[in-house]
Amino acid sequence: MNLTILKIGGSVITEKGSVSVAKKDEIDRISQEIAAFKKEVNLPIILVHGAGSFGHPQAIEHMSKGFNANGIYLTHTSVKSLNSMVVDSLNKSGLNALPVHPLSSCLLENGNIVEFQTAQIKLMLERDIVPVLHGDVVMDRVLGAAVLSGDRIVPYLAAVSAASGIGAGSNVDGVLDNKGEVMKKITPQSFVDMKKDIMGAKAPDVTGGMLGKVSELVELSKKGISSRVFNAAKKNIVSKFLYGEDVGTLITDK
Ligand SMILES: Nc1ncnc2c1ncn2[C@@H]1O[C@H](COP(=O)(O)OP(=O)(O)O)[C@@H](O)[C@H]1O
Ligand SMILES: [Mg+2]
Repeated sequence: MNLTILKIGGSVITEKGSVSVAKKDEIDRISQEIAAFKKEVNLPIILVHGAGSFGHPQAIEHMSKGFNANGIYLTHTSVKSLNSMVVDSLNKSGLNALPVHPLSSCLLENGNIVEFQTAQIKLMLERDIVPVLHGDVVMDRVLGAAVLSGDRIVPYLAAVSAASGIGAGSNVDGVLDNKGEVMKKITPQSFVDMKKDIMGAKAPDVTGGMLGKVSELVELSKKGISSRVFNAAKKNIVSKFLYGEDVGTLITDK
């Protein structure tokens, strides 16, 4: 089916140092890049976005001390409002896009995905609709509830859907080495040595920042599914990724 799964980081579409501040112009710009691609090529795309300043501050405040039902509500409501902005923007760009909330479609066990309803996502793709998922707080059999990051949703969906293009758009040009240069390629083997050069995010991020992202994608590469990390905060890079160009860092098994 040539499915692409595109993740857009919370660092790209929100002001990460603030609380619940969206970068609406950036959301619109990325929507237009996706819409232009779909208009020309019309391949199925699943979009997953991070929570950024919608969700992370709420999760830190209300969920770090254990189960808190009101904290789930506040965190989910916040990230849902960001999701609505993204879905609205995509529809205004001429695409058909619909929200899919992990709180309503996933189940965790100690933070790991044990159930994920994907039948509705498949039907949306068949009907030329872009499903838009997001990092969310999700019910957990052991912990009560836990944060499920967009960075974990992407490899899960990639593995169950045989996606062919996996991309994580962040606010850096790729995964940087200890000199600050973009690494062209990371393999499970090279990751062992350069792991120490990758850190979390500077801004409040409960999901592991760049290290969490790359770790997930390295695990995915071991299943034979390659991915890219690139800069979605720069104009046209999302577009280049969608068209299959060599952007950012390639994460692959060899
Ligand atoms: N080696 C590295 N290469 C790239 N980014 C890194 C590295 N180490 C730490 N980072 C930080 O990770 C951040 C990206 O992670 P994050 O803020 O979680 O992005 P996103 O919102 O896309 O998930 C970068 O802005 C950077 O500050
Ligand atoms: Mg992140």
